[in-house]
Amino acid sequence: MQEITSIRDAEVAGKRVLLRADLNVPLKNGAVADDTRLRAALPTLEYLHERSAKTITLLAHLGRPGGKVVENLRLAPIEAKMRELTAVPFVMHENLRFSPGEEADDAAFAKQLADGGDLFVNDAFADAHRAHASIVTLPTLLPSYAGLLMEKEIKHLSEALHPPQGALAVIGGAKFETKIPLLKKLVALYGKILLGGALANDFLKVRGSPVADSLVSSAPVPEELAGEERIKLPLDVALFNKETKTGRTSPVNDIRLGEASMDIGTSTAAKWSGEIAHAPFVLWNGPLGVYEDGYVEGTDTIAKAIAEGAVRAVIGGGDTDAALKKFTFDTNRVFISTGGGAMLQFLTDGTLPGIEALKR
Ligand code: 3PG
Repeated sequence: MQEITSIRDAEVAGKRVLLRADLNVPLKNGAVADDTRLRAALPTLEYLHERSAKTITLLAHLGRPGGKVVENLRLAPIEAKMRELTAVPFVMHENLRFSPGEEADDAAFAKQLADGGDLFVNDAFADAHRAHASIVTLPTLLPSYAGLLMEKEIKHLSEALHPPQGALAVIGGAKFETKIPLLKKLVALYGKILLGGALANDFLKVRGSPVADSLVSSAPVPEELAGEERIKLPLDVALFNKETKTGRTSPVNDIRLGEASMDIGTSTAAKWSGEIAHAPFVLWNGPLGVYEDGYVEGTDTIAKAIAEGAVRAVIGGGDTDAALKKFTFDTNRVFISTGGGAMLQFLTDGTLPGIEALKR
């Protein structure tokens, strides 16, 4: 655990509390489409209320309005949903990113926020990788504490950085640039890394498999990872040919001209599920196929193996959300991070600017 002060050590009775939370959720037709992050913010809100905080002001952002007011990024729908989810009274500050000072980490803007409270609680783990005013400067202006979600995220992700012998990492997704530093970190910690998603195409290519029309990155695979034995690639993949509009599953050494890899194949999914069932711990980040285009099988198979098995797991990466919603996970055994970029950066660096700012 990092040396940060927990809200559990704070004297909140009678205090005006500023609570930074990550309420950055998708909206559809002006309403909240997925309230997972809002629910995750409730325990701290309720904790503050139970301990008689005088007022609680929620500080949050939505989207990337770029320092100006964008009507459809107002927090009203989020506030309405929060009031539906809890009876705790709170004041909702408007989208912090409507003010240019938030992303610019402007000292005057941070001061203006600080003037509205007696103490600050940061529960926005998912934003703690952003060096923004409400994340890194506000905590220097008021007595500041980590919220319950922030603490939980740090605890579980720190565990993933100290895996037991035989632990597996499953890494998917397409964001090559953000995943490479993570892979460099994980090869030193995990016995085996199962690589899927578009990320695997780069490794298949460098290891001599024909990738044909599969999505690959323009950046080269670092030499120390290219031949790394602990990084395991799919044995078969689900393919799609854009010209002929046909698909098939094939071993990776037989990807033909015009074909693109869209998902791990059924044999790979079955093999990896078996390995997951026998592992003591799994860290999983990123989908294994092009989920949004219907290539869900590989990702769903892995999610099912974790949900229905007995393995302890830490899962994250916003893009895996859709798959995770299909299954019920035992929360005593499986932790699902609310962080996207924040989770990746925490795993890579072992800390985040917003966590450092809470240390004293
Ligand atoms: C997220 O959705 O990961 C966080 O809310 C951070 O949002 P950002 O990527 O726009 O900074």
